[in-house]
Amino acid sequence: MIVNLFTDAPGTLQTEALVLFVRDGQRPRYIKELEQQIPPLALASFKAKFGETLLAFPAKGTVKRILLVGLGDSATDRDPVEVFRRALGIGMKFLTKQGVLDVAVYIGAIFDESFDDRFDAIIREAIVISLIAPYGYEKHRSKKEDSTELRSFTWVAPLARTKEKLATLLKEACVIADSVRIARDLVNAPSNVMTPAALARAAKQLVESQPTLSCTVFDQKKLASAGFGGILAAAQGSDAEPQLITLEYLPAGQAGKSEQVKTKKTVVLVGKGVTFDSGGINLKPERGMNEMHMDMAGGAAVLATVYAAAALQLPIHVVGVVPAVENMPSGTASKPGDIITSKSGLTIEVANTDAEGRIILADALTHAAAFKPDLIIDCATLTGAALVALGEERAALLGNNQKLIDSVLDVGRQTGELLWQLPIDDDYREHVKSDSADVKNLGKKGNAGVIAGAAFLEKFVSKDTPWAHIDLAGPAMRSEPGAYQPKGGTGWGVRLLTAFLEKESQ
Ligand code: BES
Ligand code: ZN
Ligand code: ZN
Repeated sequence: MIVNLFTDAPGTLQTEALVLFVRDGQRPRYIKELEQQIPPLALASFKAKFGETLLAFPAKGTVKRILLVGLGDSATDRDPVEVFRRALGIGMKFLTKQGVLDVAVYIGAIFDESFDDRFDAIIREAIVISLIAPYGYEKHRSKKEDSTELRSFTWVAPLARTKEKLATLLKEACVIADSVRIARDLVNAPSNVMTPAALARAAKQLVESQPTLSCTVFDQKKLASAGFGGILAAAQGSDAEPQLITLEYLPAGQAGKSEQVKTKKTVVLVGKGVTFDSGGINLKPERGMNEMHMDMAGGAAVLATVYAAAALQLPIHVVGVVPAVENMPSGTASKPGDIITSKSGLTIEVANTDAEGRIILADALTHAAAFKPDLIIDCATLTGAALVALGEERAALLGNNQKLIDSVLDVGRQTGELLWQLPIDDDYREHVKSDSADVKNLGKKGNAGVIAGAAFLEKFVSKDTPWAHIDLAGPAMRSEPGAYQPKGGTGWGVRLLTAFLEKESQ
């Protein structure tokens, strides 16, 4: 795909389609010269309600189509930038669905001076959204549908920004959009294709384009000799071997053993990589099981974010740790009531084999500590309870450090990848106490499921290390398309975690 920057007057651009935005009740004054090319009757009936579209074919000039997209009025408690993201997504999908694959976007003056300090970020975000809104997972169709993938994208920006600045924003946006698409592809791949070994191969492939990345994979033999009892137990019902994937980004000039690098901040991101979750011996009901190839969405977001950090050359040391297993029932599978010894030495009562995510994350969090991180964030489709509580709209956020949690919440608001905090305290810690082992992988009577999951994970993190847990079981996958999200894997978390790393590197 070709990405261009155009800094002259929008009307002089040569393009298949130009997208413009209009606020409710306001004539698009800033596009005067183009407005004259839209039939007055059509323009008069266009109310600019949120998401309303008007496609016009100018009789003359170099712009073949003008698409007006309504932003609605401001009587909404949605962040105005999010309203804009959605309108932009609607416009991009509208055109690409019709086979218009060469698209230019002009945002003109829809953001006033009050957005000045966010303006660079808004431009970059707008380009990211333009590039991720048209998306389809078509890999396994033998007859390719008429493509709805963009062929070329032009950012029209006769604005008070230098060409150099705009070019940088454009380049960064392409990296972030690529990363979101990488995560979506990983999540959407079916479980017979995206096995633990395939996920490890995908991680290794990311290294090929980024020399500052390195990838190590522990296979079953290595996991056994190193005592990763949790990962082994969760995987033992499957014929697919477990893999512990570590994808590490060291900023250029810092090559060498990661343990020796202490000059820069180190962030470890841990992601759940269950490539299929049948529930194991506590087999899931039929409903929704076919979607359980998405249970590695946390891992996908982590791998894609580490890739983004490298491609953006952020001045921060980032390690992604993704334990990958398939959770299956069989004669060799873990059984309810089993007691296993995790990598940390803590014993775990496997009260329910469907709560497998926390068991593999326990070992991964122990592995994470070896990098002496300044902070750890884990990302996991851990509980159906998170989906029940917050829907597909928000992820649940918990942790042991309010400053870190506030920072993640804030980045969530900035990126539109929203989170909601839930508590962990001693009353909830009671829920995961076991009669027979150090900790139990199940809460009390299925209550407070999200918190029980986090209270369990907390046992495997040092109190001195700021840690946040993101349960993205809701937003990782959509049951129907959103304005700029597809149905299926959303790549949720990549924009959030990348923005978080950028903030940490400042
Ligand atoms: N992968 C599931 C959680 C999930 C459910 C993700 C729906 C996305 C959509 C997880 O491993 C699981 O099964 N959790 C159990 C935990 C319970 C046994 C404590 C759950 O949510 O029922
Ligand atoms: Zn499960
Ligand atoms: Zn799971």
